[in-house]
Amino acid sequence: MSDAVVLKLLDQLLEIEQRLIPTGLHVFGQPPEKREIAGLLRAVASFDRPERGIRALPEAEARGAIERFLAGEDIPGPLFELLGRIRDQLAVNHELDALVRALRGEYIEPGPGADIIQNPAILPTGRNTHAINPYGVPSQLAFDKAEAAVAALLARRVRDSGRLPETIAMVLWGMDNIKTHGEGVAQALRLLGVAPRRDAMNRVVDVDPLPLERLGRPRIDVVMMLSGIFRDLFGPTMELLDKAVRTVAALDEPPEVNFVRKHVWEQGNVADAVLRVFSNAAGNYGTNVNFMVLQGQWSRPEEVGDLFIRRKCFAYARGMGGRQAQALLQRALARVEVTYQNLDSAEIGVTDVDHYFEYLGGLTRAVEKETGRRPEAYLNDSLAPKAKIRSLAELVALETRTKTLNPKWYGGMLKHGYSGVAEIEHHVANTFGWSATADAVDGWIYDEIAGTFMLDQSMLERLRSLNPHATRELAARLLEAQGRGFWDAPEPVANRLREVLGNLEDQLEGVA
Ligand code: BEZ
Ligand code: MG
Repeated sequence: MSDAVVLKLLDQLLEIEQRLIPTGLHVFGQPPEKREIAGLLRAVASFDRPERGIRALPEAEARGAIERFLAGEDIPGPLFELLGRIRDQLAVNHELDALVRALRGEYIEPGPGADIIQNPAILPTGRNTHAINPYGVPSQLAFDKAEAAVAALLARRVRDSGRLPETIAMVLWGMDNIKTHGEGVAQALRLLGVAPRRDAMNRVVDVDPLPLERLGRPRIDVVMMLSGIFRDLFGPTMELLDKAVRTVAALDEPPEVNFVRKHVWEQGNVADAVLRVFSNAAGNYGTNVNFMVLQGQWSRPEEVGDLFIRRKCFAYARGMGGRQAQALLQRALARVEVTYQNLDSAEIGVTDVDHYFEYLGGLTRAVEKETGRRPEAYLNDSLAPKAKIRSLAELVALETRTKTLNPKWYGGMLKHGYSGVAEIEHHVANTFGWSATADAVDGWIYDEIAGTFMLDQSMLERLRSLNPHATRELAARLLEAQGRGFWDAPEPVANRLREVLGNLEDQLEGVA
């Protein structure tokens, strides 16, 4: 192997080793154990916090320093002051007490929503979560951070395809933008090449175009796919995003440096040609792509894209509350080259829940349906201390290595018995979701999932005794992946899976 290959391999191994993962489920009302506290403090210490004058603790020093600190050593400085506060707040847990008070109809004081790494002020837990003032979005910090994220996304795209994309379709969620004070919103503005303008009361009410010389690249067209939660929480922000597109479309600039204007003019410069902000119908949530996929209610990939479009084709603009505009959305999607979403917490990743594949996956299939080509899907992995863009397939592989196939992860899950097995099965189902929506799952992933959970007799026994229903689902899911052509399973493996499934069904039906 050449040195370059060895270095690349080392890089990948370190990335897997150092990735933050939750190891086990949270038990309501229970404070974390000492080992978990040490892990959380290490994670908190691994990020710079300029707003508190804190520099990240170098990886090599972190473990030892935090161990000494937890053993009682007094270490001066703002970082250990913060860590001390976190340690004390983690040691007590008011969740049960707060739940009982809430059930009595008492007031529960609110706190910010985020994860502990992004914002340690979420502690203590057991409080209500408060949202943020939409007029504060994006914050200046979020807008600053978006610059590097957008630069990394575009650089990655140029590396992969040789040129800048003219149009990117982006998923925006409500909770994420609460947690990050609008990093996703800020990225959309940056792609368009505009900056938020604040009024005398410091409310974001308008945008100013960034000069092309400063931007150093064309203005990218952005189709914004909002969750129903975003729509409900961020009304003024939806109007701001719509305004940003209109502002850019109206700039007197040549088409090769202003892709929004280019596309609006290609569409005849009609009033509707500037609509880029889409969500569900008012009062409606979700794409339903997750239900379609997990219940096997589709046969052709276009059906998935079609459902996504039907659910999400409601255009929002100032004075326009969700107008059904399917043909317009289809036309906008027909230009998309890249789909994109932010990943924003160490706790929930692309295989933990079905929502990432219903959104980013559904959007990817919808674009494929309209263009005839599968767009490249990217995520901004904000777990990395610096902006880090990964392709969807890379992230699915990384999450599989660090969670589903990681003995530390599934070992932590199995300690929870019945729920833990269900959690493992969910991960496999969500992995399947990425095959169904974006063909983003390499064959080795299914090979190794089958090898780890189904072909290892003692593991299979353990799963079956803890939760036979979820174990049956897992076997059936792998066979469905094979049946639908997502996985080219070796014949003996497929046969064994059929046998396992048959036995589990007999057991559940009381035959065996
Ligand atoms: C949201 O925060 O907007 C969201 C969260 C989960 C699923 C879908 C949307
Ligand atoms: Mg859900």
